[in-house]
Amino acid sequence: MEGFKILGPISLLVLAFSFATASDPSPLQDFCVALKDTQNGVFVNGKFCKDPKHVKAEDFFYSGLNMPGNTSNQLGSKVTLVNEEQIPGLNTLGISLARIDYAPYGGLNPPHTHPRASEILVVVEGILYVGFVTSNPNNHLITKVLYPGDVFVFPVGLIHFQFNIGKTNAIAFAGLSGQNPGVITIANAVFGSKSSINPDVLTKAFQLDENVVTYLQSRFWWNKN
Ligand SMILES: *[C@@H]1O[C@H](CO)[C@@H](O)[C@H](O)[C@H]1NC(C)=O
Repeated sequence: MEGFKILGPISLLVLAFSFATASDPSPLQDFCVALKDTQNGVFVNGKFCKDPKHVKAEDFFYSGLNMPGNTSNQLGSKVTLVNEEQIPGLNTLGISLARIDYAPYGGLNPPHTHPRASEILVVVEGILYVGFVTSNPNNHLITKVLYPGDVFVFPVGLIHFQFNIGKTNAIAFAGLSGQNPGVITIANAVFGSKSSINPDVLTKAFQLDENVVTYLQSRFWWNKN
């Protein structure tokens, strides 16, 4: 009885503390604009759930990551992403997977960020120069040359890249800590946005001649995904 009296307030305190340190659930999309009228509200933070009675092995299965991605494009790379779109059973589990193929001599997965996931990458073939840049104010470049069997981590939200510096195809697989990590490819978002950002903004921000900015905005920006 005496123990219970002491435990009561302590467990209340622990409960209060855990609430105080809890954070909001992470968004699984760019935004979720609130609706006053819920009649037309079909989007949730993720997907609706299938009745467990009807769940099958196929809901947790994907096949085809043994197939090389087509790297015949202006970047010489291809990301094949396996997320909750391909494997419905991944919904709410907070993980996904990608295969990345790189053409010889310069296949590039260009500077990009995943707003909702950290990434752990393993090279299975070829040689990759990889790196990420830390946030302001230091913008420290953390970089490494990776060989088959090497593993590298890209922390959530930071700009990162992989570049094939070898004479052969390169192949990597990446685990991501989100079912829908999202991708922001820096060049595409800045110079290829629909519609275009006012060139004065980019001229000043990137210390470029305005002609260079309008040239870049007129280019086709390959979307690797
Ligand atoms: C790869 O993509 C290129 C460009 O879109 C296309 O011409 C080519 O047929 C594709 N190759 C294969 C094997 O699908």
